[in-house]
Amino acid sequence: MTFDIDAVRSGFPALSRSQDGQTVAHLDGPGGTQVHASVIAAMGAMLERGGSNLGGPFSASQDSVEVVAEARSAVADLLGSDPGEIVFGQNMTSLTYAMSRAITRGLSSTDNVVVTRLDHDANVAPWIQAAETVGAQVRFIDFLPDAGCRLDPESIEASIDANTAVVAVTAASNATGTVTDLSPVITRAHGNGALVYVDAVHFTPHRLVDVRALDADFLACSSYKWFGPHTGIVYGKTELLDRLHPFKLRPSPDTSPDRWETGTQSFESLAGVRAAVDYLASLGSGEDRRSRIVDAMHRTSAYEEQLSRAFLDGVEAIDGITLVGPDRPTDRTPTFAVDVRNHPPAEVAAKLAAAGIFVWSGDYYAWEVMRRLERPDGLVRIGFVHYNTVEEVDQVVNALQHVAAGA
Ligand SMILES: Cc1ncc(COP(=O)(O)O)c(C=O)c1O
Repeated sequence: MTFDIDAVRSGFPALSRSQDGQTVAHLDGPGGTQVHASVIAAMGAMLERGGSNLGGPFSASQDSVEVVAEARSAVADLLGSDPGEIVFGQNMTSLTYAMSRAITRGLSSTDNVVVTRLDHDANVAPWIQAAETVGAQVRFIDFLPDAGCRLDPESIEASIDANTAVVAVTAASNATGTVTDLSPVITRAHGNGALVYVDAVHFTPHRLVDVRALDADFLACSSYKWFGPHTGIVYGKTELLDRLHPFKLRPSPDTSPDRWETGTQSFESLAGVRAAVDYLASLGSGEDRRSRIVDAMHRTSAYEEQLSRAFLDGVEAIDGITLVGPDRPTDRTPTFAVDVRNHPPAEVAAKLAAAGIFVWSGDYYAWEVMRRLERPDGLVRIGFVHYNTVEEVDQVVNALQHVAAGA
């Protein structure tokens, strides 16, 4: 055991609650991960204090200024950046719409924008639509369905060239759990003078993010995927946040990162974001918060690999179940896309729900993925995180076995 799982679970109020009288195997949750008690407390405390918009001479406004600064510094520790490189917004999708419009400003028909077929649509459609607005071309990097759904190296080579302005690529697929090897994409993009926008929404709760080591120009994530509230985050290199032009209101600040944030932020959520990072850091040890996060993510990733191993071994033994995605725990997150022969994905999800197991069916907005896999009804997605146990994995495997057997 790499950390105390009982202590971890006791920190999540929703994990100990049963729903409709059933024991619930909370996987990655109905709309993200479960929220940690310290996050709920921090958000409640902020709401009780009152808060206010930024820039006033009174203490409530100064309180909000501090909450924003603390959230920036916490997320900077999570991603390995400087606080001034962290932009907050409603969610990853809204931020990506805003960033893609700004990044593609001024492109023309000779430029191209590269997206992938492995990405969630939040990192595809905004780029297609932004490219359409300026008349730029769009190219797709394909993935290899029979090789763990990893990005196709030949397609990376073919798509990115001297006319590429930006490459939007996922760090991990929210559908198949595939962890992307980003370095060939980033190296080729930078070699051609293109920017890289990484979607790390699915990756961040499972693996350590280090934006400097990656050399990503932008990286997006969402705190509700790592035990916090619904707030979107974009990291951007300082030089780019300063140089590019956001679509913004005239009286709003024109210094980075504030110039990229539209309207009033959810200060209570930002208090929760900081608490969520502190929770993650509490799972590791080290001298400062970043080192504790590095240690914590290594521990949780190692633990999650055990969960993946248990699931992969379990489903391999079941006749009629097909796994789509990597078959090695080290190549993936513990999120699995499966097909149960003769049982439509929606039916499987409903049967698991009746057994108190919450999973998704369909495309979960990984729209290109399901088209590429020729799965019009999508697949069943089963996702674990570090607060799940091997017993829960076994419970899910048993339930799947029952469904596959037509029970
Ligand atoms: C990989 C991935 N990217 C993007 C998103 C969209 O994030 P948000 O809900 O913050 O807009 C999700 C949401 O599930 C996701 O899994």
